[in-house]
Formats: sequence, structure tokens, C-alpha cells
Amino acid sequence: MGLLVKIPIKTEKQIRGIRNACAATAQILDEVGAIIESGITTDVINSFVHRRTEELGAIPAPLNYKGFPKSVCVSVNEVVCHGIPDEYTVLNDGDIVNVDVTCILDGYYGDSSRMYLVGGNDACTKKAIELVQDTYDSLYAGIKEVGPGKNFGDIGAGIQKYIEGLSKNYGIVREYTGHGIGCDFHEAPQILHVGRYGTGAKMKPGMTFTIEPMINLGTYKTVLSSLDGWTVRTADSKLSAQWEHTILVTTSGYEILTLSAEEKQ
Ligand code: MF3
Ligand code: CO
Ligand code: CO
Repeated sequence: MGLLVKIPIKTEKQIRGIRNACAATAQILDEVGAIIESGITTDVINSFVHRRTEELGAIPAPLNYKGFPKSVCVSVNEVVCHGIPDEYTVLNDGDIVNVDVTCILDGYYGDSSRMYLVGGNDACTKKAIELVQDTYDSLYAGIKEVGPGKNFGDIGAGIQKYIEGLSKNYGIVREYTGHGIGCDFHEAPQILHVGRYGTGAKMKPGMTFTIEPMINLGTYKTVLSSLDGWTVRTADSKLSAQWEHTILVTTSGYEILTLSAEEKQ
């Protein structure tokens, strides 16, 4: 089936629009870094992201997407992804938090997520800090595999090789994947975070997609909340981390469209 799905090649005009949507997304995530602190609720992050998205002239893509009730996903500790912000979930020192922002600007989409350590390095366990760093490095192990003529399977292969090479018995989440993005939230193809080199469709200049590995301290298995139908947790309740960038395939390699201010330095 995968081979029959057409992967869109964006025009120069579309790429300009996607680049702008991605810049807004990255800016909001930069700003989120300054408000994360012990004692705030995840709903405070939602209100902030919603307001800043609108102030930048954009629309928060998660709001009402397939019934998702909020403007951003906030996933704390054992929550793998798609955490719904609420007024009851308070951040505590030592928590690790993923904030996943998707902006629609002039009809174009940018999608990125980052991890934040509540209370900083001093408040978090060594295991948690390492998981966050290793997950970040695995995203870049995947990004390194992007380029014209390479296969989409190379991305997952690069991530899997990197994570398995650490020999820390981490679980790489299988049920949720990266995705094409740009003119819609989720486009073809799916980007797996495990895989084999040389498999899958070939990358071409003008393709835009996300890479967003979710790495668990324990099992790769996840459980979907039957209460809200969105929140995904690790099956063993151990910690999970995720980082996400939107990537453009260029004629010479790739461009990361959602770089943070820090990554641009
Ligand atoms: N931003 C998520 C992703 O990376 C998707 C969230 S879907 C939502 O694909 F409905 F929960 F917003
Ligand atoms: Co996302
Ligand atoms: Co995504």
C-alpha cells in the first residue's frame, strides 16, 4: 500500500509558506521555555500557546482536530504523546514535559515538539536527563539520513541503530510515527522511527515531513486512555521523551525548518 501513496512535492511558493509556519512554531516553542516552571498547570501552557499562535496570525492546528479539545499537546513524564492540557495537572520539579506545537499560517503547517526539564538539571534524575538527551540525539541520527535519493526507511534505521547502540534497553515507540506535512496536518508518507536501510519510497527535493521519535525508559508498548481517547501512556508507566522537527528535502540534503533559537546559534 505504502508504495501506491503519492508523496507531494512542494512548489517554491508552498515551501515559502511552510517555512513561515515552521518559524512561527519554533518561536512559540522558544517562548514556552521561559514560562515552564514548577507550580503551573498544563492549561497555562495551552492558554499561552493559543494566545501566541493567534498573535502571530496563525491558527493552532490541534484545536478541534479529530475532536482534540485543546490548542497544544502537553505530555508529562509517562505520557508518550497527545496529552490534553487541563487545570488539574500541575508541573512539579523533576518532571519532564513534551510540548508539541502545530501552527497553520496562511494555510501552511509547521509541527515541532521539544522537551522541558521542570526545575532544570538539578531537579531531574540522571536517568530522566539522559533519556531526554538520548532522544534528542536520536532525532538528529534520523535527520542525518535525509537527502535526495535516500529511502524513507533510512530515517528509522538511523534512529534504531543509534538507540540500540546505546545498549540502555530503551523502547522505541512503534504505534505513532512522523508524517508528511505542509499543505495538511498529516500527509503521506508515514515516517517510522525504526526500520531497515534501503526500504521505503525515495526522498525527493521539495518533500516536507516530520521526524518525531518517542523513546521510553522501559517497554516500547503504549496504552491509549479509554477515558479521553487521546492520552497515550507507556504500558509500564516508565518515562517517555519525544523531540520533533519539520524537515525539507533539498537538492543537496535537508533543511530543518523548525530550528530553535538555541539550535540556530
Ligand atoms: N502534533 C502531533 C504530531 O506531531 C499531532 C497532534 S494531533 C492532536 O503529529 F490532535 F492531538 F493535536
Ligand atoms: Co507534533
Ligand atoms: Co507531527
